[in-house]
Amino acid sequence: MTIERFLTGITTSGTPHLGNYVGSIRPSVQASLRPGVQSFYFLADYHALIKIDDPARIQRSTLEIAASWLACGLDPDKVIFYRQSDIPEIPELTWFLSCVLGKGVLNRAHAYKAAVDKNTAAGSDPDSDVSVGLFMYPVLMGADILMFNAHKVPVGRDQVQHIEMARDMAASFNHRYGAHFTAPEAAIEDNVATLPGLDGRKMSKSYDNTIPLFAARAQLQKLIGSIVTDSKAHGEPKNVEGSALFQIYQAFASADEARTLQQAYLDGIAWGDAKQIVFERVDREIAPMRAAYEALMSDPAKIEAILHAGAAKARAIATPCMAQLRHAVGLRDLRARATSVATKTAKVALPVFKQYREADGQFYFKLQSADGISLLQSKAFSSGKEAAQSIAQLQEQGAKALGKLQESVQLADGIQAAEVDTALGVLRQAKVQAKAK
Ligand code: TRP
Repeated sequence: MTIERFLTGITTSGTPHLGNYVGSIRPSVQASLRPGVQSFYFLADYHALIKIDDPARIQRSTLEIAASWLACGLDPDKVIFYRQSDIPEIPELTWFLSCVLGKGVLNRAHAYKAAVDKNTAAGSDPDSDVSVGLFMYPVLMGADILMFNAHKVPVGRDQVQHIEMARDMAASFNHRYGAHFTAPEAAIEDNVATLPGLDGRKMSKSYDNTIPLFAARAQLQKLIGSIVTDSKAHGEPKNVEGSALFQIYQAFASADEARTLQQAYLDGIAWGDAKQIVFERVDREIAPMRAAYEALMSDPAKIEAILHAGAAKARAIATPCMAQLRHAVGLRDLRARATSVATKTAKVALPVFKQYREADGQFYFKLQSADGISLLQSKAFSSGKEAAQSIAQLQEQGAKALGKLQESVQLADGIQAAEVDTALGVLRQAKVQAKAK
């Protein structure tokens, strides 16, 4: 079965609310359990810096969002869950992509254009209060996606343009340097509800109408009590269409439960009683997760450890991938002979194991970098099979195998174990990618 890679980022600029839960967290956690998918979820804290210059808020939001996703059942053993700023390859790739993307594409980005239009309407300089970070936002997002060669990116409609731009970046990089990137696709979840907020408009931080996902029980009750309703009295039939309260209920209730409340509306239930029913239903789903959330919030070290483990998994992919990309663009070891022709072909140069037999009748191998530089040299093996077994160990375990093989393989002159590890990672990664294609 080919594995489809799903990837999505959550900007760490706020406190998760019920709308985030229904629209993103709950469906994502469910999707991450499907067989045949590899999911990448990350905290987009570099993106948060574009909007927020309050360091304490960034830190707080990162903690709250990580704790929320984990409390809602995201299993860090099943998915790759990490913090963007733990992956230095991402800003590095951002620069590579900046150099192949036309500036005009970014001029047309919705968020940037909206800022320019607003300034122009106000008679200000078009770029007034627009940071380079805001302008570059789509490139950073492209790097997030392309770094892991994601196939599918679950996002809201407002983000579709960014995915198209990531495809542009992939295409123009591939055109110049060979087939390195998969073109990602937006996966738009049309059947997940957008939840209304307290005032009936879409629940959103920018409208200040949200219900925090993990508000304490009493506060949740108070907030649900403050959802707008019309002024129909007890005994008067009520309409479920256009009722924010009913829509919120629907996002949590079964079809049967929803029908029962709909009937109660028709029968003229008092708003206060309807609100109590909605509150109890929402709280029934949230309460067990709230306890998990509170435990996590009081143990930030645990979350740090989970994110570090996630970053290690992500970097096991990103580091060798970045090594290939550096090579592809010409940021290379100076001892390597220039291969400018090779860069134009779609084939990506890879490190290789070379096995050979010497005049002494013994078997040997060496590992060469993509640039043809010797990284590892074996000693003599009496059979080809033994040599092949050592190669297999290196392929599977990376530089970790060097310890066990120290009798039979040694680092070439001037080469560090880390370089060998990266080269072996590149090989492993190429294998995984070849399988996924
Ligand atoms: N821009 C996304 C949002 O605001 C967050 C994000 C950052 C993201 N990087 C991403 C989403 C990569 C998907 C893939 O919702």
